[in-house]
Amino acid sequence: MTHRIASIPGDGIGVDVTIEARRVLDAAAAKYGFSLEWTEFDWSCERYAKTGAMMPEDGVAQLSGFDGILLGAVGFPGVADHVSLWGLLIPLRRAFQQYVNLRPVRLLPGTSSVLAGRKADELEMVIVRENSEGEYSEIGGRHNAGRPDEFVLQESVFTRVGVERIIRYAFDLARTRSRHVTSATKSNGLIHSMPYWDEIFAEVAARYPDVRAEQCHVDALAARMVQAPDRLDVVVASNLFGDILSDLAAAITGGLGMAPSGNINPSGDFPSMFEAVHGSAPDIAGQGIANPVAQILAGAMLLDHLGETVAAQAIRASVDEVLTAGETLTPDLGGTATTTSLGAAVADSLR
Ligand code: NAI
Ligand code: MG
Repeated sequence: MTHRIASIPGDGIGVDVTIEARRVLDAAAAKYGFSLEWTEFDWSCERYAKTGAMMPEDGVAQLSGFDGILLGAVGFPGVADHVSLWGLLIPLRRAFQQYVNLRPVRLLPGTSSVLAGRKADELEMVIVRENSEGEYSEIGGRHNAGRPDEFVLQESVFTRVGVERIIRYAFDLARTRSRHVTSATKSNGLIHSMPYWDEIFAEVAARYPDVRAEQCHVDALAARMVQAPDRLDVVVASNLFGDILSDLAAAITGGLGMAPSGNINPSGDFPSMFEAVHGSAPDIAGQGIANPVAQILAGAMLLDHLGETVAAQAIRASVDEVLTAGETLTPDLGGTATTTSLGAAVADSLR
């Protein structure tokens, strides 16, 4: 079995950690009897600086035939963040209808969390973030520019189809886990969009009587994530709320260097795209010290998606083993290892 994978390392540490994820995925492929055919794309802020575009005009078409996409991170000083985001990530997520952003979090062994006293099974959850609409919309504008009465408008878009399918995905996922879904709302402050979200959540919940459904204002939910994470399992949230909650979840489980994510097209009509939650970290780029674990775990999610679940599970076990041994940890984990040595240790443990 050969899987054709597009790799877009991007900028900064995206490049460093993607090499390591490929190393580990190739080791898993060799061991579990399938092969990965990689095609690399140089789409990035560096490309933008040279050509004026993050990716070619037919970028979406070029990627559409792949079985999956592994993305590093994009963004670099000198190129505005909305350029890198709207010039690559958001068009791909939308063109490929990757309307689920799946962000599993789990307290990994050997990591020091603010919640370090917790056992691993008390801190394991998955954030299902809506990935195609919501607060991240292009609708709005700047008015009366330069005048004292200048103002901006930024609209949110919540469609019945969009809200219903993400909530349904969360309930289906809950049936494979602990049968508990928590919805992030803020219907006290956002008086149109969030009551609508809540209404559809209640409608979908009624169709899943075997799953416990709960809703919580996003601010209280943020506090609960720190104070009582064992009371959460599947968390479903709008685009903006999910973005914020998943960085928080990453922070309490050993930091951004540990958190993977998937941009998933559940129908399988288009390729899904897997990436670390973190960005390109210009502050440590080029120093060889970025933690590659998040990107390696994103690679494991990619293998899960391709049906290579045994290999994916083996990668997660190897990551646990290396972190438990504690001999090859990058500086964010309190060690002195390099990106390459941590990646190689995971690949060796796998072999
Ligand atoms: P960031 O995630 O790149 O960095 C935040 C902090 O975490 C930095 O101090 C960084 O050194 C640290 N960090 C992140 N990943 C790490 C790793 N693997 N190992 C060790 N330390 C790590 O977020 P920031 O600084 O807000 O954004 C930097 C650039 O990345 C911006 O241009 C932003 O737009 C872009 N970005 C891109 C994303 C993507 O491509 N999906 C997501 C988030 C940000
Ligand atoms: Mg984010």
